[in-house]
Amino acid sequence: MLTAETIAEARRAVRTARGQGRRVGLVPTMGALHEGHLSLMAAARAECEFVAVSIFVNPIQFGPNEDYQRYPRPIERDLAACREAGVDLVFAPSAGEMYRQERLTSVVVRGMTEGLCGRQRPGHFEGVTTVVAKLFNILDPDAAYFGEKDAQQALVLRKMVVDLDFPIAMRFCPTVREADGLALSSRNAYLSADERERALCLSRGLEAGRRMIAEGRTEAAAIAAAMRRIIEAAEPEKIDYIEIVDPHTLGPVARVAGPVLMATAVRIGRTRLIDNILVDSQGNKIRMNDLFL
Ligand code: PAJ
Repeated sequence: MLTAETIAEARRAVRTARGQGRRVGLVPTMGALHEGHLSLMAAARAECEFVAVSIFVNPIQFGPNEDYQRYPRPIERDLAACREAGVDLVFAPSAGEMYRQERLTSVVVRGMTEGLCGRQRPGHFEGVTTVVAKLFNILDPDAAYFGEKDAQQALVLRKMVVDLDFPIAMRFCPTVREADGLALSSRNAYLSADERERALCLSRGLEAGRRMIAEGRTEAAAIAAAMRRIIEAAEPEKIDYIEIVDPHTLGPVARVAGPVLMATAVRIGRTRLIDNILVDSQGNKIRMNDLFL
């Protein structure tokens, strides 16, 4: 496995692989790797002869009062996990390498970034789209792999790729969960035992919403209210949102008449957790890739 800390080294490694006719797959991450990240690497491994993983805690996507400083950075463990997963290249630049000068350029996707997480995290998605555009330019992948866990991020990045004609196939992989339903997240490491238990309210609330749709309920407000009651029972510090939106626009729906994204963001202790499920009008879970067939 190759590791590169500079843009020049990473470009060289990818150029060599491409010269050998290998298809390049990219898995962008912020490290603190878990089974969710590993599932993206496995999907890339299955489709590409050269798998690159980036590990970069991107300062420009964190707000001033967020967890940039305390975000976990277990780099040795992450490198071992990548080696184990058969990754060919890990690109792990410093912030100084990625942002060598005062940055005057941004990539902004409008509209879809204004609701859901965009409302509580101003500038967050601009930071994500800008860094992912940079990673795409540096690593020049044929395909890039993202998790449905961060549904808004995935849909926003897909829109960026369409609007700016990046020649990259976007692949979305299902959310990996613990046996009890908790979606894996690097931020779960912050949770105490009591908070870990209370964090189950996200997946429970979503599943209750899904069941209502499966039973034929269509009024989004009533479904969201029922989800809220379940989440409130866990006494979260704050509910940022519980929403039922159109997955193409991320705008709210009044009635469930086609595919919907049910999404929630909740603070448990000091930790902000997100989760979502994507379902059709019958309440069956569907894959994000299938929205774009
Ligand atoms: P990070 O939170 O490290 O996540 C990297 C990728 O792993 C994302 O595509 C995310 O959706 C996916 N992922 C996280 N938890 C998952 C789970 N439980 N199941 C499946 N996939 C999961 O998302 C970011 O980093 C950053 O914003 C990034 C895109 C790297 C830009 O900095």
